[in-house]
Amino acid sequence: MAIKYVAEPFRIKMVEPIKMLSREEREEKIKEAKYNLFNLKGEDVFIDLLTDSGTGAMSDKQWSGVMRGDEAYAGGKSYFKLLEAGQDIFGYKFIQPVHQGRAAEKVLFGLLMGSGKYAISNMFFDTTRAHVELAGARAIDCVVEEAKDPTLRAPFKGNMDVEKLEKLINEYGKENIALVVMTITNNSAGGQPVSVQNMRDVSAVCKKYGIPLCIDAARYAENAFFVKQREEEFKDWAIKDIVREMFSYADMFTMSAKKDAIVNMGGLVGIKEDEELYQKVKGNTISFEGFTTYGGLSGRDLEALAVGLYEGLDEDYLRYRIGQLEYIAAKLDEAGIAYQAPVGGHGVFIDAKAMFPHIPYNEFPGQALAVELYKEAGIRTCDIGSYMLGNDPDTGEQLQAEFEFTRLAVPRRVYTQAHLDIVVDALIAIKERASEVKGYRITWEPPVLRHFQAHLEPVE
Ligand code: F0G
Repeated sequence: MAIKYVAEPFRIKMVEPIKMLSREEREEKIKEAKYNLFNLKGEDVFIDLLTDSGTGAMSDKQWSGVMRGDEAYAGGKSYFKLLEAGQDIFGYKFIQPVHQGRAAEKVLFGLLMGSGKYAISNMFFDTTRAHVELAGARAIDCVVEEAKDPTLRAPFKGNMDVEKLEKLINEYGKENIALVVMTITNNSAGGQPVSVQNMRDVSAVCKKYGIPLCIDAARYAENAFFVKQREEEFKDWAIKDIVREMFSYADMFTMSAKKDAIVNMGGLVGIKEDEELYQKVKGNTISFEGFTTYGGLSGRDLEALAVGLYEGLDEDYLRYRIGQLEYIAAKLDEAGIAYQAPVGGHGVFIDAKAMFPHIPYNEFPGQALAVELYKEAGIRTCDIGSYMLGNDPDTGEQLQAEFEFTRLAVPRRVYTQAHLDIVVDALIAIKERASEVKGYRITWEPPVLRHFQAHLEPVE
């Protein structure tokens, strides 16, 4: 099906040159980087799809906000502007800025969980899982079954399996479940959305057992756009009203603002009404981040964030944004390349297991495709599969992920249609020589979040 590229609803006012190294240079660079894409220098990358986090282009309004940032240590104007925006959009009484998403997890999770406890999510992202574990608890994923079949097109593949959630609560004992986390959109499942109905159902289960419900809110706006398109009840709602409805069912949220709020750095904790918990969050913020009215950010960052929270909700922007992903997906359909379908909000998750059926999970097919994309066209992506998942914290054994994806995360307002065409052409070229591509083994790894730093070599 031919799909029309949605024209950028903006003009480009500032540019940043990029260039493609020769194939020989790329082969050399990736070898030097020990086949870990995080070890590459940014300047050696042509199209950087490593992440959509902190890599977006800020608007003229955000940049002018930067000039207005109030750098007072305590009680700066920009802080109050951010509070107002957060309270208005999410409807929560307490908003605490922090420097990024994992800082939000750090200041909040330790207050709610400890050894012997469990946290259950539709799917934890890697840092979120790590912070559950650092707080002494164990993280359990509970996504709907349909998410596990990349070819199965369902509207809300990010949803929680509510029946299984209730079963898990009974199995582990409700007193041992410290928190339920709804990740919207569900990053690890492929940027897949969560329906408002699913949120309502999960909230009802949490209330029944007295378990607090937290939203991992990095992609709150993209999720709302999908809800508007796919959930009948909301087809005439404003995006902002959908966001507010969604958040009304939770008790708190953590947010990496580096995604949908289109800033290069920033995060939030939101607490709906529990003042005692908020007081503790403030205490942790002062210890780990900085005084409560700046939370590890400059005043200028707070100001850009207050603007960005609204820009992320703009429907013309979201149509273009999701349109870029749908454009890539339509071309992959034509080429017969499998990905988590329908395409998600922030990235295309290529099914590397389907492309490389000869590479087993413990030789990391998702990582193998990421390396090939760099060699092919200087494109940087990342593995979202067994390589990222890592080892069992109790036994040290390599875990097998539900999926072996290579994620092409698209930065916001950064790349054009021609860049996306290059990405698709590279994937087609790799598919044609797929049987020659080899797996990888780890030659060194650190104990926590190993995929960022590990060294690898091809399995010969
Ligand atoms: N939660 C989700 C769903 C995320 O996707 C991320 C980050 C975080 C929390 C942590 O936020 O990076 O600001 O500390 N995801 C990035 C990614 C890194 O590439 O998907 P952070």
